[in-house]
Amino acid sequence: MAGTGIFTDILDGEVYKYYSDGEWKTSSSGKSVAIINPATRKTQYKVQACTQEEVNKVMEMAKSAQKSWAKTPLWKRAELLHKAAAILKDNKAPIAESLVKEIAKPAKDSATEVVRSGDLISYCAEEGVRILGEGKFLLSDSFPGNERTKYCLTSKIPLGVVLAIPPFNYPVNLAVSKIAPALIAGNSLVLKPPTQGAVSCLHMVHCFHLAGFPKGLISCITGKGSEIGDFLTMHPAVNCISFTGGDTGISISKKAGMIPLQMELGGKDACIVLEDADLDLVASNIIKGGFSYSGQRCTAVKVVLVMESVADELVEKVKAKVAKLTVGPPEENCDITAVVSESSANFIEGLVMDAKEKGATFCQEYKREGNLIWPLLLDNVRPDMRIAWEEPFGPVLPVLRITSVEEGINHCNASNFGLQGCVFTKDINKAMLISDAMETGTVQINSAPARGPDHFPFQGLKDSGIGSQGVTNSINLMTKVKTTVINLPTPSYSMG
Ligand code: G3H
Repeated sequence: MAGTGIFTDILDGEVYKYYSDGEWKTSSSGKSVAIINPATRKTQYKVQACTQEEVNKVMEMAKSAQKSWAKTPLWKRAELLHKAAAILKDNKAPIAESLVKEIAKPAKDSATEVVRSGDLISYCAEEGVRILGEGKFLLSDSFPGNERTKYCLTSKIPLGVVLAIPPFNYPVNLAVSKIAPALIAGNSLVLKPPTQGAVSCLHMVHCFHLAGFPKGLISCITGKGSEIGDFLTMHPAVNCISFTGGDTGISISKKAGMIPLQMELGGKDACIVLEDADLDLVASNIIKGGFSYSGQRCTAVKVVLVMESVADELVEKVKAKVAKLTVGPPEENCDITAVVSESSANFIEGLVMDAKEKGATFCQEYKREGNLIWPLLLDNVRPDMRIAWEEPFGPVLPVLRITSVEEGINHCNASNFGLQGCVFTKDINKAMLISDAMETGTVQINSAPARGPDHFPFQGLKDSGIGSQGVTNSINLMTKVKTTVINLPTPSYSMG
C-alpha cells in the first residue's frame, strides 16, 4: 500500500514529505496541497506546499552535490542507477496504486508505467556508459591552410543542475526519462512533480534514495505552481530545464535564461487513412491510439483524416470497437476512466458542444458523470469546428473526411502542433512521400503514434516542443562539449 512498508519515511501523518538533502522533510510553510482523486473527486492525498526558501536551499545543495558527482566514475553512476531501477521494479505495487488513485490510470497500465520506468533507467545507465565514455579526436590538417600541428580532443561534460518537470499523465515515467539521463551525465537533479501524480513521484524518488545516491544530488520539491513555479524555472542555479506538459512550456521558454531546454508540449496527432489501407488495422490503431488512457496522451490520435471513399466503412468498424470499450473505475482496469480534473472534463465538454452546434455527427450519445466521459467518435467534423484543431486530452475523437491526400497533409500542417502523425496505406512509396510532407517530429507508418520504445528519438516541431528526447538524445542534451587542443611546435605526421 502507498506510504507503507519501505515507504513509511515519506509520510508525515496524512501529508507526504518532500525530499531535500537526502532526507524526507516537512515544509516550514505548515501548508499542504490536496490531491483530488479524479474518479471519486475527493481528496486522496496531501503533499507539502514548499516555500521559495526551501527551493533556494535545494538549489544550493544541488550545486554543491553536482561538483562531486561529476567526479564520480561513470561506471559507479551507472551502478547506482541500475540499483534504483531494481528497487523501483521490486516495489511497483504501491507506486502503481498511487497512480491509480491520483490520475485514474487503469491499474494494469499503472503497473506497466512503473516497469517501463525501471527499464528506461537501466537502459539509460548502459547507454551513458557507452556514449559518455567516447569522445572525438580531430586533426588540424583536414581544414585548408593547416599543417598537422593541432590535436583536438572532445568530451561531453555535465551542465550542472537539471530541473525536471514531468506531466500528470506519466508522472513516474516522464520523470525518470529526465532524471536518469541527467544523473548518468553527471548532473544533479531537482524534480518538481505535477500536483496530480506527486505522490507517485515521491515514491519513485524514495527508490533513488534507497539506492544510495549522494545527499543533495536529487531533490523533490512539491507545492503550488503559482507559488514556486516561476521561482523554480527562473532560478539562477538551474542550468537546464526538461519539461513535459501544456502551454506552460511556451511561457517557461520565454522566461528561462540562456540554458538548454527540452520541452514536450501538446500534440494534435493526425491519422491519415488512404483508400488502400487495411481498415481493420486502422480501426484497432484508432482505438488504441485515440482512447487508451482515455485519450490523455500527447501522442494520442487526435484527428482522423480519412479518404471519403472508405470513410463509411472505417467509421462503422471504429464504432463497433468503441461499443466494446469498458467505462468505469481505474481499479477495475476499465478502458475509459475519469479524466484528470473537473476543469479538464469541462474543457472537453466545451469542444463537444461546439461540434454539436456546428453539425458534427455523433456516433454515440454524449454522456458524462462527474469527470467520467464516455468514449465519443465525432464524424463529419469540419475545419470550422474547434475539435478539428484543439486537443481534447480526453476520450473524444473527430473524423474529418478528405477527398485527396493533399487535403489531409494540408490539414495536418495547418496545425500549430507538430508532435507525431501516422499514415495508413499498403504503398510504402506513398507512405514515405506523405511522411516527408508531414510537419511533425515523427510519422508512424501503419501504426498509431507513440513515444516508445523509450530509446527512440522523440521530438515535436512548432508548438509541440523543442529539443529531442529518447535516451541517447536526452543524455546528449544534458551535456555540453568540452575540447582540449594540443598544440605541437612542429607538424607531426604519423609514420613520419
Ligand atoms: O503524453 C505524452 C507522452 O510522452 C506519450 O507517451 O506515447 O508512451 O503514451 P506514450
